[in-house]
Parts: sequence; C-alpha cells; structure tokens
Amino acid sequence: MWVAQTHRRMLKNHEAARINPPTHTSASPNLDDLPRIIVIANREPYIHENMAGQTTVLRPASGLVSALEPFLREHGGIWIAHGSGSADANNSNRLSEVCGELHVPPERPKYKLRRVWLTKEEEQGYYYGFANEGLWPLCHLAHVQPRFRLNDWEHYKTVNRRFASCVPQNSTDLILVQDYHFALLPRILREQHSNPIALFWHIPWPHPEAFTICPWGKDLLFGMLGADVIGFHTQHHCENFLQSCKLLVEARINWDNSSVTFGGQETLVRVFPIGIDTTPIVVLNDEEKVSLRKRYKITAPQIAIGVDRIDYTKGLPERLDAIERFFEKNPDHIGQTSYVEMASPSRSSIPAYQNLLTEIQTKIRRINTRFTSPAGNRSKDPEYLPIVFHSGHFEWDEVQRFYQLGDVCMVTSLHDGMNLVAKEYVWCQRPDKGCLILSQFTGAAQELSESLLINPYATEHLADTLARAFKMPEDERAQRMVSMKEKIHRSNAHHWAKKMIETLLKTLHQA
Ligand code: G6P
Repeated sequence: MWVAQTHRRMLKNHEAARINPPTHTSASPNLDDLPRIIVIANREPYIHENMAGQTTVLRPASGLVSALEPFLREHGGIWIAHGSGSADANNSNRLSEVCGELHVPPERPKYKLRRVWLTKEEEQGYYYGFANEGLWPLCHLAHVQPRFRLNDWEHYKTVNRRFASCVPQNSTDLILVQDYHFALLPRILREQHSNPIALFWHIPWPHPEAFTICPWGKDLLFGMLGADVIGFHTQHHCENFLQSCKLLVEARINWDNSSVTFGGQETLVRVFPIGIDTTPIVVLNDEEKVSLRKRYKITAPQIAIGVDRIDYTKGLPERLDAIERFFEKNPDHIGQTSYVEMASPSRSSIPAYQNLLTEIQTKIRRINTRFTSPAGNRSKDPEYLPIVFHSGHFEWDEVQRFYQLGDVCMVTSLHDGMNLVAKEYVWCQRPDKGCLILSQFTGAAQELSESLLINPYATEHLADTLARAFKMPEDERAQRMVSMKEKIHRSNAHHWAKKMIETLLKTLHQA
C-alpha cells in the first residue's frame, strides 16, 4: 500500500517536473552569515573556447559545480581553477603574471572565477602525469600500474604552489580545496593563512600498504594534514586514510574522534557522501522519445544504457563481456534488446586511456558482428545493433533525456569514489521503468542498496543480473526505485556541501 501510494506520488512528481523547469533556487543554502567561500578545483565551472571562429562558453556537467555554486552565488566568493580554455585568457582581466579573473555566471555575475595559467609542460606533469598517471591508478583498484616520475612530481609541487599564490589574504574566507590534484595545497596555505581549510578527496583512498607505493606518500600526507577537515565519500576510505597516517607519519590518531593530530594541529577526517542536484528534471514525452531513439540509432524495443567517461576504472570491457554472455545465454534478446553507451572521451593523451578505447572498439565490433551475422541475428531489422556506442560531449539536457530511455542502467566500475551516474539515472528515470545494476565497488553502493548489486569481474552473474533486470515485475522496480529516489533526495548535492561547510565552521568555534 505504502509502496503503491509513494509510487503514485513519485510518478506525479515526475510529471510535475515538466511544468517546473530546473532552477537553482531549491538548492539555495540556508546558513546564516556564511563567510565568503573560496573553492579550489582543477576544473572551471565556465570555460571560454574558440569554436569555429567564435567564442563559446562551455559549462562542463559537474557534480561539484551543482553542489558548490549555489553557495558562491548566494554568499559570493571565488572559484580558483586551471584556465584551460583556448579563449580563457582573452576573456579574463589580468590579475598577475599567473592568473586572470572574471565575474560569473557570465549572464548574471554573482561570484568570481580566478583562472590560473599553466604551461603545456606544467599541465602535462601536474595533471596528466602526477595526478592522472600516478595518483589516479594508485587510489583506484583497477590493476593499472601507477607511474611516478620525478619530473611530474616537480610540476605537481610547482602547480600546487602556484594555486596557493592565487588565494587572497582574507582571514574570514572558508577555503574548500577539491580533490587529488591538490594534496599539497592545504599545508602551503596553512603556512600563509589562518583561514579554516577543508580538503575533499573525491576518489577512493587505497589500503595503506598500497599507498606506500608512492615515493612521495609522506609528503602528500604532510600536505593534506594542513587542512582542518578532510572528507571522503565512505567510512572505508576514511579508515584507510587514518591507517596510512599511522603507518607513514608520526601523527597521533584519535580513532574515537576520527582525527589526526600532527605538528600540534588536529585534522578531522569525515565521511561526506556527495549527492546530485535534485532540482526537477526535464520529462521526455513520447514524441521526443521517438526522435531521440532515431538520433541515437536505437531500433530495439528494450535497451540497457551506460553513461561513462572512457576510463579504465569504469569497467567497460568487463561490461561488454557480460553483455556478450547475456546474448549467448538469452538468444531471444537478440534483435529485441540493445545496449546503448553514451561515452565521453577523457584524458586521451594517456596511453592507458588510448589502449582502453581500442579494446572497447574491438570488443564492440566483434559482438556486433557475431550477433548480426546471418547465423546469429534473429532480427528482421537490418538496422539492429546489439551494442550502440556514441562518443562525444553531451549536455546535461541531453543526458537526462537519455537516462529516461534506459529500461536498465549499468554501472560496472571496478572501483569508484562515489559514481554519480547511478544517482542521476535513478533520479531522472520514471520509477516504473528503471532498474539500476550497480557495482559493489562504488561509493554509491553503500547508499543504493535497492539496486541490483554486482561484482563487475563476475561475468556470469552480471549477465544473469541483466536478464533479471529486464524481467523484473513493475511493482518490484517501483519499490526499489522509489526508495532510492527518496534517499537521493535526502542526501543531495546541497546537503553534501552544507555538511562539509558546517563541519568546517564548527572547527572555528572549537578553536
Ligand atoms: C573524477 C575526479 C574529478 C574529475 C572527474 C573528471 O570524478 O574525482 O576531480 O573532475 O573525474 O575528470 P577530469 O580529469 O576530466 O577533470
């Protein structure tokens, strides 16, 4: 009864979303007298690019922007990021040799975006090298060997210092440092500023022994422990971090309070699972559905979908192996079911990412040939493809519509800090339509226990789970989806930012 009522309410809300276009007002923070906020993140919320002879402002789809921008819009502040766009410099006012600034959002300015300039060599060493060929595989259990090169490390240090030099001297600002690009920044800032500093680590933290692979592990911990608060998505990552501190630095660990005291300073280590923006979504009507299916070249009546950055942590080859096995075991689905992937190229100058793309393309070709050959194809439809793969940059408007096409969504990460695709799919899809298959190795699996949890390495089980998802009765789907939608709403992007800011403010009052 409860389920049926809640289900109806959810369906009604879903319909109402069509009438209420997305706004940012429902995510407005309610913290009184909040000081100015300084966000330091590698990616900018607005990028100026030269495209076809014109300057275009791109807004990268980002969970971080949805979570933090409402606070900056409301209370003012500065977002400090790498000015990576080809037209960024021409669209910023010069502040110094190393950075420029502009007011954003461009259409209605509310806060400042400070762009830090990096040379190609610095970007290569700091971002591609140390952050993404070193720390990224170090922190994710995905069996890609981390590369730690002295030259990359030197660039990482230089860039962390450069960002620190762009932080203004204003002791009341709250400083929120984001992610593994800036492990050294809290300590550098602590030496120059008395402000409260939080660092949020958006990716997993490895087992302490695995962490010791990094030749500069102690320096990273020393750098991070300059923060008053360090946040992770899961309790497990917090514990790994505390254990790493115990193993590598002469710090006092307070297990009861989950804190580390080092050099007279206490750092709180806390769990803040990030959520998504739960403002209403655009609802796909039947006409749009037909045209979207046409545009995406989908001819099968049923589809499973995936939305991923092309990254070896996302378990794409493993997913394809399981889909192939699913067609082998369930030949009735050939011609009736397709898997449709919306993939965004990522970090493509790194060899591991290039190899991954080749591997994915090879597998897709093989699977499509196998199940559309005269012997394998049960479909009369000459357009039918078992795997439909689209690669490119997709706007959020497009992605939320695409989610609504998917009878099933597959998230098969080998390891993931959180995985927001899982939450976005559940939030955007109608409760009676969707079914989420979710890797047990994502942070999201801790919250979304009503999904069909899988181990992406267990091909047989994943193939069977896909068959089960398609067969799931509507009532069961609705029960699971409604319960997940409620959890997602309760702990959305706004709550994440609010909890982190409140924790940081509390450290001020205790000081
Ligand atoms: C992960 C990281 C983020 C990063 C995102 C996209 O989720 O935690 O910091 O922004 O990947 O990666 P990119 O390298 O394109 O910024």
